[in-house]
Amino acid sequence: MASSFSFKLFFFLFLFSALSSHLATAKTAAFPKALVLPVTKDTTTRQYITQITQRTPPVQLKVVLDVGGEFLWIDCEKGYKSSTKRPVPCGSPQCVLSGSGACTTSDNPSDVGVCGVMPNNPFSSVGTSGDLFEDILYIQSTNGFNPGKQVSVPNLLFSCAPNSLLEGLASGIIGMAGFGRNKVALPSLFSSAFSFPRKFGVCLSSSNGVIFFGKEPYVLLPGIDVSDPTSLTYTPLIQNPRSLVSSFEGNPSAEYFIGVKSIKVDGKPLRLNTTLLTFDNEGGHGGTKISTVDPFTTLETSIYKAVVGAFVKALGPKVPRVKAVAPFGACFNAKYIGNTRVGPAVPQIDLVLRNDKLWSIFGANSMVSVGDDVLCLGFVDGGPLNFVDWGVKFTPTAVVIGGHQIENNFLLFDLGASRLGFSSSLLFRQTTCSNFNFNSSTY
Ligand SMILES: *[C@@H]1O[C@H](CO)[C@@H](O)[C@H](O)[C@H]1NC(C)=O
Ligand SMILES: *[C@@H]1O[C@H](CO)[C@@H](O)[C@H](O)[C@H]1NC(C)=O
Repeated sequence: MASSFSFKLFFFLFLFSALSSHLATAKTAAFPKALVLPVTKDTTTRQYITQITQRTPPVQLKVVLDVGGEFLWIDCEKGYKSSTKRPVPCGSPQCVLSGSGACTTSDNPSDVGVCGVMPNNPFSSVGTSGDLFEDILYIQSTNGFNPGKQVSVPNLLFSCAPNSLLEGLASGIIGMAGFGRNKVALPSLFSSAFSFPRKFGVCLSSSNGVIFFGKEPYVLLPGIDVSDPTSLTYTPLIQNPRSLVSSFEGNPSAEYFIGVKSIKVDGKPLRLNTTLLTFDNEGGHGGTKISTVDPFTTLETSIYKAVVGAFVKALGPKVPRVKAVAPFGACFNAKYIGNTRVGPAVPQIDLVLRNDKLWSIFGANSMVSVGDDVLCLGFVDGGPLNFVDWGVKFTPTAVVIGGHQIENNFLLFDLGASRLGFSSSLLFRQTTCSNFNFNSSTY
């Protein structure tokens, strides 16, 4: 009798303590409506870097952003110690969610094995096999104006990778953060952890930028809501049916493609081979994507030549060309180029979208300053359109809108509505992507 009573009491106390510890966790992790990440740019590699906090006890880690990346991957060979790290079993719902086609098994027949994916490093063009794990991740919440409390995501999926996958990444970097449109990339994992909208905003700069997840507003000093729908132009996000780099052959691409149907320079449409601008269903080649791992917009050779030719012509004979500085093909004497609020006074370049909206590129985003008095058109020749063949200069995608062209342009990736909202240059609105108020936490 006595023993049964004490058992019941013990059980009650156990339940109570489990419940109260659960409540305590729920309280510190009070469901945020939005999250925020700071971004910096590494000057030597031109990589965009963010900082996350992971593990028990928590460790701060620097990772490179990949807006089209499939998931978070971390080098697990560099002293990974955490009491909350767990392997993801083969066949588990998380493994299915990842689209994995692989399983790492041991000799032990009762071992179900660990779910396998293919983390890749687009800078070294290396992909490898990696096991999926879960661990706790901490990230700052926001009300859209300031950073707020840190919140935790208890079992955040990520892939382990070997030391060798870090090759080509900036010093101190320990992995890459994928923000792709698939289910195990960070935007989808955050929105399912906190039940907020599947959308995120990217605002990069050559110094400090910001990424928002979840519910708007997204506000930059001096009080400019860059997520305001009346200030954005929208275009559908297009699903490329074939992944060019994927963990599992046959998966649709996690990258963000938009429909560009032509290009104008100084208001005049270029004559382009338009079949390059739509991707074929066989290999998923062609089309236009947005990338944070390409520092400059990269164009298929025939498109590149057309853009450079028209730009040089529109700039006119009064602006002397100077010796080109790699990787650019057209550089000019900057003394002959004036200045505007949106950068050097050069001909406007417009990407004409399928819904006839324009993505307009002004001097601050088209020109790159390379030393004294030299300005180069910041577009790169990607080579002819072809299959991904690592190490050879081929491009599988006709137009890759790169980092320099999206700096100080706010991009809203709305996965729920499958559309992209874009602001054009924020310099017109007298703000920049460095203007999120990370300094004060007022709520
Ligand atoms: C247009 O591009 C496609 C795809 O690369 C190619 O097969 C075709 O020959 C090109 N057409 C012209 C007129 O160059
Ligand atoms: C934050 O503080 C730093 C250093 O005090 C300052 O340089 C920076 O301009 C501030 N940023 C904003 C957005 O207020």
